[in-house]
Amino acid sequence: MTTNRIVLITGANKGIGLATARELARAGHTVLIGARDPRRGAAAADGLAAEGLDARFVHLDVTDPATAAAAAELITAEYGRLDTLVNNAGVARDWQRSPEDLPVEAVRETYETNVFGAVTVINAMLPLLRRSPAGLIGNVSSGLGSFGFLSDPDSPLWDVATLLAYNSSKAALNAVTLVYARALRESGIKVSSLEPGYCATDLNGHSGTATAEEGGRRIARQLGEAEAGPSGRFFAGEGGTYPW
Ligand SMILES: NC(=O)c1ccc[n+]([C@@H]2O[C@H](COP(=O)([O-])OP(=O)(O)OC[C@H]3O[C@@H](n4cnc5c(N)ncnc54)[C@H](OP(=O)(O)O)[C@@H]3O)[C@@H](O)[C@H]2O)c1
Repeated sequence: MTTNRIVLITGANKGIGLATARELARAGHTVLIGARDPRRGAAAADGLAAEGLDARFVHLDVTDPATAAAAAELITAEYGRLDTLVNNAGVARDWQRSPEDLPVEAVRETYETNVFGAVTVINAMLPLLRRSPAGLIGNVSSGLGSFGFLSDPDSPLWDVATLLAYNSSKAALNAVTLVYARALRESGIKVSSLEPGYCATDLNGHSGTATAEEGGRRIARQLGEAEAGPSGRFFAGEGGTYPW
């Protein structure tokens, strides 16, 4: 990304969100660490600041529109604009559970964060993104949300194509990406889906094959590509793009 951008990352107190924040701050951006837990969020921001990076905690539970509105007010007062929003906060409730065994509450909870949470934060931040000369929204999705992979028995992701809540929530998030990319076309704000690759984090019981740091580097690189090219793409962790 171009330098000196004001960047808000949701769920940035740990995992790929924190790694992305470190990567972007090292590249010279001001990074706002969105976190639902003030203690964990402040600790993460303080850790980056101790490394000499420009990072600040912003209280933001993506399932709580009041915290999104308060975060927008704070960013308006302190910075006057937002250049990049990274919707990274996410949950996975259905590892190793079949669709028929998964309570619908778990599906609903997953959508509250992965889908409705992203919509809540986008709508709260749009007035600020409109004040940026080059607004950018990156929705952290997954190859598991690709209809191309979910429908292809030869896909490398076929074995985990059975995760009802997680996969369908990321497919819905991809549709959210495309709808906003279309709706915001005239405004110049670009919207894309991003993908960190399979990284070892709390989300998957640290079963991933890459580190969270690698995931953060990939998301940072994809944000740069998203800013430089057309809106409405689905970036792949390993490079290039995925089928929707
Ligand atoms: N790990 C992978 O292999 C992989 C692959 C593809 C995509 N992704 C995506 O990457 C993103 C980050 O995941 P991760 O692997 O880094 O998982 P993680 O370590 O579990 O981090 C998830 C983050 O989301 C936050 N979060 C959850 N619910 C939230 C809410 N309601 N409001 C605000 N923050 C909330 C968590 O905060 P708390 O600490 O408070 O729980 C945490 O900071 C997710 O969207 C995930 O789906 C991950």
